[in-house]
Amino acid sequence: MAHLISPSMLSCDFANIQRDTEMINSSSADWFHIDVMDGVFVPNISFGFPILAAIKKHATKPMDVHLMIDNPDLYVDEFKKHGADILTVHYESCTHLHRTIQKIKEAGMKAAVALNPHTPISVLEEILPELHMVLIMSVNPGFGGQKFITASLEKVTRLKSMISSKKLNTLIEVDGGVNDKTGKALIDAGADVLVAGSYVFNSDNPLVTIDLLKSL
Ligand code: DX5
Ligand code: ZN
Repeated sequence: MAHLISPSMLSCDFANIQRDTEMINSSSADWFHIDVMDGVFVPNISFGFPILAAIKKHATKPMDVHLMIDNPDLYVDEFKKHGADILTVHYESCTHLHRTIQKIKEAGMKAAVALNPHTPISVLEEILPELHMVLIMSVNPGFGGQKFITASLEKVTRLKSMISSKKLNTLIEVDGGVNDKTGKALIDAGADVLVAGSYVFNSDNPLVTIDLLKSL
């Protein structure tokens, strides 16, 4: 499978959200990556449902929603209502992860689990067959524009072999510090989906930058 690109709207211009959403529509990107932060699970607050609704109003591609919040179970149905197609929850924020995953799937979304940089992939051993995707955080979540943690590459390689040994087709998404160089190394290691925020939106020509990531 050719890899997918999911630009992170955290780095878009919120005063021009329709323009930036339409730019992604017309690009070679595959999904919209939407970062929701609650100021509790991570030391930053991003945005909530009104912004999701604003993006959804114009988006013509799937909404890949990454929840960096405590108690995500409380809001599963609400995220579905606001247009989420793929819902990612953090392993570190879910005591009853299996129940949360079932709830996401029952609500009609694809379920994914994110791991912080310090969390080993071994915690996924039991839950992996239930997941559409695993999100490997290659920075500590909370902010765009941080430096890629190189050890994430080896984590992707090991996760890829865990997935193949179980004969699954779970996707591997990587988020944080992705650019042309780290992106290439991630694809070589087995990543299926690259998230990129500042590298896309701070570039002179985001359409060309997305093409570049897509062609790695
Ligand atoms: C970080 C978010 C990322 C962020 C990535 O907590 O989950 O999706 O937008 O930003 P860059 O690509 O700038 O590292
Ligand atoms: Zn994210």
